[in-house]
Amino acid sequence: MQIKTLQRADEKYIKQAAELLLEGFKEHWPQAWPDLAAALEEVDEALEADRICRVAIDANDNVMGWIGAISQYGGNVWELHPLVVDSQHRGKGIGTLLVRDLEEQVLQRGGITIVIGSDDEDNMTSLSNVDLYDDLFTRLANIKNYKGHPYEFYLKLGFKIIGVLPDANGLGKPDILLGKRVVEWEQ
Ligand SMILES: CC(C)(COP(=O)(O)OP(=O)(O)OC[C@H]1O[C@@H](n2cnc3c(N)ncnc32)[C@H](O)[C@@H]1OP(=O)(O)O)[C@@H](O)C(=O)NCCC(=O)NCCS
Repeated sequence: MQIKTLQRADEKYIKQAAELLLEGFKEHWPQAWPDLAAALEEVDEALEADRICRVAIDANDNVMGWIGAISQYGGNVWELHPLVVDSQHRGKGIGTLLVRDLEEQVLQRGGITIVIGSDDEDNMTSLSNVDLYDDLFTRLANIKNYKGHPYEFYLKLGFKIIGVLPDANGLGKPDILLGKRVVEWEQ
């Protein structure tokens, strides 16, 4: 497997990347990309020159997963968006390799932080269906994963939960915010 920057000329990879988005998010985030056209538009935006867009290619020259990132705060912060691995190849470390590669890419661009907003629209965690304004910090400290919400994947890669946006996707459907510093802490 190799990880490389997706180019506009890579038409086959672009279509495969869009198909992975559609397939990968439909179970728990059906509103994310309703059809292939919407997913293709997302890939198209990810190809803008000021973004990062990296694909994992297998030995048969097919896309197994991809990751994008958007510059914020003058390049200090990069929002990871999106990340998906082919459902047939999950649990083999590909997601980990894509995030590690992104960390390197952000570092090379002088970035400090990677941030992710990971929605919970499908009662996947204990932060859903509750009033987060009631005892917020205790709820954050005691978060439970009910249905394989990806926040746990990011925690394993050294990310921390840095907040939550209550009701981001409707009442009781929050956006869980995770962050990681990619440079050494020096004061
Ligand atoms: C989340 C995703 C990218 C992970 O990719 P992956 O290649 O399966 O991840 P890895 O194999 O590198 O997993 C690394 C570790 O995280 C764990 N993990 C992966 N996904 C997880 C999840 N959804 N919930 C809990 N743990 C998870 C793995 O079990 C593994 O743990 P281990 O090191 O103890 O064995 C992939 O499941 C996916 O595409 N999901 C659908 C789309 C999605 O959720 N994208 C992220 C939106 S913010």
